[in-house]
Amino acid sequence: MAPLLFLLVYLILPNGRSWIRTSMDSIRIRGGKPLYGKIEISGAKNAALPLMVACLLTDETVTLRNLPHVADISTLINLLCQHGVSAHLNGHGDGNSNGRSISLTAKEITSTEAPYDIVRKMRAGALVLGPLLARIGKAKVSLPGGCAIGTRPMNLHLDGLEAMGATIEIEAGYMVAEAPNGLKGAEIRFDNVSVGATEDLLMAAVLADGVTVLDNAAREPEITDLVLLLKAMGAEIEGTGTERLVITGKPKLHGAEYSVMPDRIETGTYAIAAAIAGGRIELTNTRADLVTSVIEVIEAAGVDVEITDDGLIVERDPAKPISGVDVLTHPYPGYPTDMQAQIMALMTVSSGASMITETIFENRFMHVPELVRLGANINVHGRSAMVRGVKQLVGAPVMATDLRASVSLVLAGLAASGETVINRVYHLDRGYERLEEKLAACGADVERIQGE
Ligand code: UD1
Repeated sequence: MAPLLFLLVYLILPNGRSWIRTSMDSIRIRGGKPLYGKIEISGAKNAALPLMVACLLTDETVTLRNLPHVADISTLINLLCQHGVSAHLNGHGDGNSNGRSISLTAKEITSTEAPYDIVRKMRAGALVLGPLLARIGKAKVSLPGGCAIGTRPMNLHLDGLEAMGATIEIEAGYMVAEAPNGLKGAEIRFDNVSVGATEDLLMAAVLADGVTVLDNAAREPEITDLVLLLKAMGAEIEGTGTERLVITGKPKLHGAEYSVMPDRIETGTYAIAAAIAGGRIELTNTRADLVTSVIEVIEAAGVDVEITDDGLIVERDPAKPISGVDVLTHPYPGYPTDMQAQIMALMTVSSGASMITETIFENRFMHVPELVRLGANINVHGRSAMVRGVKQLVGAPVMATDLRASVSLVLAGLAASGETVINRVYHLDRGYERLEEKLAACGADVERIQGE
């Protein structure tokens, strides 16, 4: 069944191109060129994923515009289709943010199982747990397992759903959950801030009986995007954008149309591309307020940032040195963990030193040995990395174990002399749309080499 669904998704793609390209592809960069031009930012992958999952909460159609064309979206379409959702993709992604959309209709849930094969590839797949329980009172969802950046447990999701009256057993690697009499509103306080648990419990609470309070909720803009879609579907939620969300459950939600927010991590990544390579890049179809903490850091490093009506312009004279800045990752509005590897790449070529501390994930320095292969001087001490700037990085073959680590190597490659080849490009394809085309349009010497 799964391959058939994948084929269907492939066939209905608007321009005949698959979103997933060959996993064995690599990217070759000949560094040292300053970048000048304009980059249009795509819709946010991390917002689009929970917004798509929200379609499970209603039997009417949910239409999402500004959908990014990245592999994680295809993976989630496959998962939703196997729950019984019908999916239609429209539009070409021709630079018009309303030009590509997906319509998702979960008229009937035909399967409550989210299989290991899909969830292990993409942890966001586990987000179907709350909505399935809320809509039909049962779900069997694979535990996502560990991944390259840490153990990533599910306890906050499970404790919250149990507080709402679900019974959950772990059986053979699956979370088997039931709420035959429906979910009940509850007061839930998260021990630590979790984006996924906040999203999962929000989606469970909108159909629960009574009022649910989520305290110490994540405040990431992607949560606000989800709240706004749920409200458009008829949900009653107070406290949007705060750490205390109060949800009054409804017996039924209806369909809605919604435009996915711009990708703040893609925005920040290309801002750092302009910073590390030097030059001037205008980032459009985005919002500077989504990347305030990143702007503060790169400005402190000596990069100029101008805020525009639909994004920002990032500029650095290639002759001007980059200053070392200390960075601490933190939940929003702090500096994002998903931008930690990229700022480390920039700091490798600073004229000073930088202490980068990761507070969200316990094992998120997998890019360090690869950056060192390019000539960087980095020492890791527990959760902190001391980066001493070097005069020049030198190109080499490298590979990475996760999405943001991979893109940090692309950024380092833009500054390195000679040729850098980044292998395992499938990590990049999970979250960056046409990365090599966007950079090449600004003058980068970058190309994708087709794998076997
Ligand atoms: C989301 C983002 C990811 C980002 C992360 C932190 C998506 C699809 N992914 O991941 O890109 O890096 O937020 O901003 O949006 N934790 C627990 N128990 C739980 C859940 C989480 O202890 O039940 C811990 C995690 O191990 C981690 C921290 O909480 O240390 C934050 O994780 P969380 O915010 O849940 O990350 P994700 O939602 O998986």
